[in-house]
Amino acid sequence: MMCKIWAGMNNILNDFPILKRTVHGKRLVYLDNAATTQKPRAVIDALEYFYEHTNANIHRGIHTLAEEATLQYEKTRDETAQFFGASSREEIIFTKNATEALNLIACAYGRTFLKPGDEIIVSIAEHHANFVPWQQLAREIGAIVKVIDIDLEGRLCIHGTKNKEQRTKNKREVEIGCLESLITNRTRIIAISHASNVLGIVHDIAAVVALARPRGIIVAVDGTQAAPHMEINVGKLGVDFYACSSHKMLGPLGVGVLYGRREILNKCPPFITGGDMIKRVTLEKIEWNDLPWKFEAGTPDIAGVVAFGVALEYIRKVGWRLINQHEQALGAYALSQLIQLSGLTLYGPRSMEHRLGVFSFNFKGIHAHDLATILDEEGIAIRSGSHCAHPLMERLGVHATARASFYLYNTKEDVDALISGLMKARKMLG
Ligand SMILES: Cc1ncc(COP(=O)(O)O)c(C=O)c1O
Repeated sequence: MMCKIWAGMNNILNDFPILKRTVHGKRLVYLDNAATTQKPRAVIDALEYFYEHTNANIHRGIHTLAEEATLQYEKTRDETAQFFGASSREEIIFTKNATEALNLIACAYGRTFLKPGDEIIVSIAEHHANFVPWQQLAREIGAIVKVIDIDLEGRLCIHGTKNKEQRTKNKREVEIGCLESLITNRTRIIAISHASNVLGIVHDIAAVVALARPRGIIVAVDGTQAAPHMEINVGKLGVDFYACSSHKMLGPLGVGVLYGRREILNKCPPFITGGDMIKRVTLEKIEWNDLPWKFEAGTPDIAGVVAFGVALEYIRKVGWRLINQHEQALGAYALSQLIQLSGLTLYGPRSMEHRLGVFSFNFKGIHAHDLATILDEEGIAIRSGSHCAHPLMERLGVHATARASFYLYNTKEDVDALISGLMKARKMLG
């Protein structure tokens, strides 16, 4: 079964030119996919084609190039809406990355609708991109941030008895516990990631929505790590906002996506102001543009958006069934090999259930940065550090971890290379 899946994915390797390069004379083994993914030839070609044949600014010109560029840009919006199961193209906003998309929610929705004393719930496992905007918003308006805790495996505590621990930080008390216990009649937003960039855990968004919806609480999901690895249907998930980044799902750098429910977006003021987001400006008045352009001020990364459409098409053609089977099989293999290494501490679950191929670990006596440096000498790219997740690191009791993250073009040989690189590092430094 596993061999058949891997054989099916072998052709895919040829689509990624960068995988043919060497690093320090060794075959590149790219295991930093949670940071950014490599691009298939089709995406690279789409960028080149745009600049060679179409380059023009959108929405404004009436010449052929401007019309072609506008058409391609707006066609990608249709494709993105379809890809994520949005009910209309107006619900898809292009941003420069997931961070900007999440800030857009906090600023446009949060500043407008939250009042002093209102409560925002985030999880301890958030990337700073879905933590800091909410902390900042709370400071600005006098709202309260509460934090969902994790259990011993690293999974979010959704239901259960009150696990309340009071912490003092900057003279403020932050309540941390299971989601159900944190919700009150002042809870306005739950901002939560769909998958952890550190532990690889896929969070139970359906359970979050089930608690939030009946109480009229907004659910804003950071889908940056989940969207590259699983079919997302925002309608079926029942979320109000969903954010992700093109570059983590085979697309170019510089493009993010925000899905927002139309009724909500319609009520929000713009996040950034300027050209393209207005219908009419007089000395006295401004009339905002319609959705989605109200939230797209200034010239976007047009080529990037167009090439992002090609990345989505690439994923669609490979198919979620094959991608999921391959990643699950590869992840299970990597997990089985990693946990056999003596001296290695793995953070997060030891099964692939509701989990992605993102593995954070430390080796006894070896700093994560030293590990990453030694692996780099072997041509193996992993990440080391705190992964923009300081609260989670503090909760795990570590300053840094090494992280290997897999994607559809990784192979069993990549796992084997990682394991032998780790064994070499242990011999040298452990
Ligand atoms: C879970 C998660 N959210 C948000 C982000 C921010 O993504 P970007 O830097 O593309 O804005 C990242 C990046 O690693 C992430 O892993």
